[in-house]
Amino acid sequence: MEKRASFRTKLGVIAATAGSAVGLGNIWRFPYETGQNGGSAFILIYIACVLFLALPVMMAEFVIGRHTRTNASHAFGKLAPHSWWKYIGYICISAPVIIVGYYFVISGWSLEYVVQSLIPGGLSAQSAAEYNAEFNQFISTPIKPLIWIFLFIFINHFIMIRGVNSGIEKAANIMMPVLFLILIIFGIRSMFLPGFDEGMKFLFQPDFSKITPNVVIRAMGQAFFSTSVGMGILITYASYYSKSTGLGRTALTVGCFDTLVSMLSGILIFPTVFTFGISPAQGPELIFITLPNLFSQMPLGWLWSSMFFVLVSLAALTSTISLSEVSIAFLQDARHYSRRKATTVMTCIYLSLATLCSLSFGALNHIRIFGKTIFDACDYFSSNILLPAGGLFISIFVGWYLNKKLVCRELSNDSSKKPWYFDILMFCLRFVAPISIFLIFLSGLNLM
Ligand code: PFF
Repeated sequence: MEKRASFRTKLGVIAATAGSAVGLGNIWRFPYETGQNGGSAFILIYIACVLFLALPVMMAEFVIGRHTRTNASHAFGKLAPHSWWKYIGYICISAPVIIVGYYFVISGWSLEYVVQSLIPGGLSAQSAAEYNAEFNQFISTPIKPLIWIFLFIFINHFIMIRGVNSGIEKAANIMMPVLFLILIIFGIRSMFLPGFDEGMKFLFQPDFSKITPNVVIRAMGQAFFSTSVGMGILITYASYYSKSTGLGRTALTVGCFDTLVSMLSGILIFPTVFTFGISPAQGPELIFITLPNLFSQMPLGWLWSSMFFVLVSLAALTSTISLSEVSIAFLQDARHYSRRKATTVMTCIYLSLATLCSLSFGALNHIRIFGKTIFDACDYFSSNILLPAGGLFISIFVGWYLNKKLVCRELSNDSSKKPWYFDILMFCLRFVAPISIFLIFLSGLNLM
């Protein structure tokens, strides 16, 4: 049997796993969720959710993945043979395929905006309303968005085809530092904007009266989405960890890094927004409509705008890589496909799915699934149903079903000493995570 690939260096482990976590969720979704849900009060709750919900589930996925050293679907079958748990593995395989279908669409848009920022007269609308009209026109035309989306999928393809070390690990080792550097440059620039103080206050001075049950639920959802838990991605990645990788330490480092990137995106965005006297409570249109408009009113606007969309594209790419790895690893293990064949099959599926999602803004807008366009249905179904379901079952599986000794041994790298956090972790996995995820689930279905 072929030996399973494994990440070569500790840095590679962190870069690849943090790369999976850092994505549109940090740069696109976190700022608008924070803006709409009360600023720093939301952030405080968010950090608590990362610590007590997302990190425990992340560690649970690491335990499953590294112990079984196989893909997310087979891992459950291996640990719980002849039981229905293998069906949970199927959720873990299908959810990333659905997510990546619409994720590629937004990623493709960001490539278009890189190019538009660079060509003279590219982003030259005069007002937010004009930017809005241009954006809506762009996403609803059939061909133009597809060109960028396909280009993005092909870039993803050529990284994936090179495998775990020369593809995923190498790409993460290059892209993550660049991404971080761009964020630092933006952070320094923000300090010189007139809206800096107001932006910082909005981010860091909590107003507890803003905390409502809905804010808590939104923060939980964001914590799951942003750290990539509940999808089998981290099970797959952990199957490439070596026996000496510290699982607790890796989870904490990735969680901190992911939160840091979200905060830096906040530091990038809010001072800019306040400088121009715009409301921070904008929705998802914040990065494609409001920000290009604001950048174009600044000196060297084209530079800031292009750098921003390079940042978005890089963050998206590190995530699409991890989302696509789940099913590629599955095809390699289950069907014994070569890396090339598995990647090619999956790329064809992504091309079709992303095409459907993209066209649902225009030509296929009339097709509705439970009243939603194809794009919205993919987003809704994966974020509100599959993702919480995956997280719920993973926490129950490791908290209640798996042998405690096995979990403890895996977390301590086979030493006889119980990690200091073990009891807290088990408590979170047994009670805190399942109950909270269930609440997110109900609220996602509008039942709460
Ligand atoms: N965590 C990534 C982000 O924040 O954009 C993307 C993502 C990957 C979301 C995997 C969900 C997921 F299951």
